[in-house]
Amino acid sequence: MKALILVGGFGTRLRPLTLSVPKPLVDFANKPMILHQIEALKSAGVDEVVLAINYQPEVMMNFLVEFEQKLGIKITCSRETEPMGTAGPLALARDKLDDGSGEAFFVLNSDVISEYPLKQMIEFHHNHGGEATIMVTKVDEPSKYGVVVMDETTGTVQRFVEKPQQFVGNKINAGIYLLSPKTLDRIELRPTSIEKEIFPKIAAEQELFAMVLPGFWMDIGQPRDYNTGLRLYLQSLKQHAPARLASGSSIIGNVLVDESAHIGDGCLIGPDVSIGQGCVIEPGVRLSRCTIMRGVRVKKHACVAGSIIGWHSTIGQWARIENMTVLGEDVHVRDEVFSNGGVVLPHKEIKSSILKPEIVM
Ligand code: GDD
Ligand code: MG
Repeated sequence: MKALILVGGFGTRLRPLTLSVPKPLVDFANKPMILHQIEALKSAGVDEVVLAINYQPEVMMNFLVEFEQKLGIKITCSRETEPMGTAGPLALARDKLDDGSGEAFFVLNSDVISEYPLKQMIEFHHNHGGEATIMVTKVDEPSKYGVVVMDETTGTVQRFVEKPQQFVGNKINAGIYLLSPKTLDRIELRPTSIEKEIFPKIAAEQELFAMVLPGFWMDIGQPRDYNTGLRLYLQSLKQHAPARLASGSSIIGNVLVDESAHIGDGCLIGPDVSIGQGCVIEPGVRLSRCTIMRGVRVKKHACVAGSIIGWHSTIGQWARIENMTVLGEDVHVRDEVFSNGGVVLPHKEIKSSILKPEIVM
């Protein structure tokens, strides 16, 4: 079975992290976002993943070569010379997706994180017998997504409205599709939006079906949503694989710690924290609702709350990093600095406090 992951765009909303790597390679819960998806696809029976890329394909492929072997899955690249939108890349990769057997294939947006019940999705798709299945989920603020109006009993999608200006419903497109090769016949080789141009047509023919996603879902393409996504992800780990979470007297709530990380005495860690490979958390540190990426050192008595600390950064003694501060890769925060939000570009040194949200160039 085949799958295509849409890996386009510049990930501007996740800067400064995306200044170091393309968005799908930004770590989430201690591994690059896209690995969460590739692993889920593999366990649903996918043997080839096509990455539809229009930006930095070499960086992505160099990285993924290692995982092709580790995971035992073929990963290929379909490169666009101009951005082809969310449907155009399917036309471009047509030969890879349609091998003539009529088998359906998955298409995933690359910036969402969820429980990926892909086997259930395959079953649902076979049972309804229609052309296409999309996964949907309920949200409080639907206007920034694609909204689906559906028949709750059959799952038939009556309307698909991308980014509606007026309220049409609160079930939204989760960015996980299972499409039959017939859908490829509807897509021309030009920049095309699957949400605006293709799904409404399939829905009009009553061939589009929606499955309500069980479990959590989050588009983690911006810092606040990324942090919410981490909370939901850890909560789901707590339910399904509690042994993967850290435990001990210094841990509060759900915390993920890489086995190579070192945590000093007298720390208080949690809730909702992930600590990556090789991190050193010195004695007396307080961490809550934050991501500490690979290779970071947090020095004695520092405090990080509600923030993201990029790869190989250091946080000085008694420093306080709070309120959605996002540090890029290799940022060094001096002792006792206080940050109350803001974004710091990679390879910088912060000598004095950041008291309001700002970009440190
Ligand atoms: N290859 C390629 N080329 N990929 C692209 C391009 C392109 O030109 N443009 C966007 N993508 C990829 C993005 O990387 C992302 O994985 C996916 O297509 C969706 O694009 P976003 O820019 O993230 O769209 P969105 O978040 O505003 O809305 C989409 O996702 C929502 C769920 O998070 C839509 O699919 C909505 O309907 C959906 O609700
Ligand atoms: Mg998105």
